[in-house]
Amino acid sequence: MENIELSKILIFGGTGYIGKFMVKASVSSGHKTCVYARPITPQSSPSKIQIHQEFQAMGVAIVEGELDEHDKLVSLLHQVDVVISTLPYPQVLAQLKIIDAMKVSGNIKRFIPSDFGIEEDRVSPLPPFQAFLDKKREVRRAVEAAGIPYTFVAANCCGAYFVNILLRPHEQPRDITVYGDGKAKGNCFFATLFLS
Ligand SMILES: NC(=O)c1ccc[n+]([C@@H]2O[C@H](COP(=O)([O-])OP(=O)(O)OC[C@H]3O[C@@H](n4cnc5c(N)ncnc54)[C@H](OP(=O)(O)O)[C@@H]3O)[C@@H](O)[C@H]2O)c1
Repeated sequence: MENIELSKILIFGGTGYIGKFMVKASVSSGHKTCVYARPITPQSSPSKIQIHQEFQAMGVAIVEGELDEHDKLVSLLHQVDVVISTLPYPQVLAQLKIIDAMKVSGNIKRFIPSDFGIEEDRVSPLPPFQAFLDKKREVRRAVEAAGIPYTFVAANCCGAYFVNILLRPHEQPRDITVYGDGKAKGNCFFATLFLS
């Protein structure tokens, strides 16, 4: 049988909610997998230490660093083929640092930025969510301008995840405004909610 060398995959945000699925899928598909993660410190949570141990046991290489360590990023990028980012919302624009490093390394065959929600180039939600999507669009445009091959993933939104975050059933009762007459059908209902 022909021996095909699989892509080496680098994942940013791999220890997070979506990232853990990506890391496990990458490893189980046979890819050499590396996670770029912020360093473990004495203040790190037990769960963070546990996920590092779990990854190491799976054969994942963990490189500890910050997103503004440009030279370290460039050096690491030279060792991989594909870059996946699952960084969270507050760090969406920090991906511009990854893009800058990929422009310098010049070898990345595919970049998958942190999307995994609705298709931001095709929707116009209410202003707070629009502002979030504007940042994701800025990253998309930077990827295109850099000429890096890319895949933008629109997975739509997992209702259970957002119900838990937005409605916080475990916290005190909160007032919720549902726009419209409440009869509109849709599977992206959270965008119509505004929590006061
Ligand atoms: N479709 C859906 O329903 C859905 C649901 C959830 C998320 N998403 C999308 O998936 C993407 C990832 O979200 P997530 O909830 O999985 O992210 P997350 O778990 O909140 O964070 C992912 C990782 O980012 C790193 N990180 C956090 N703060 C950082 C900082 N200040 N600087 C550098 N790294 C930092 C952490 O890794 P280290 O501590 O190891 O550095 C963390 O484990 C987002 O684009 C989000 O919109 C979609």
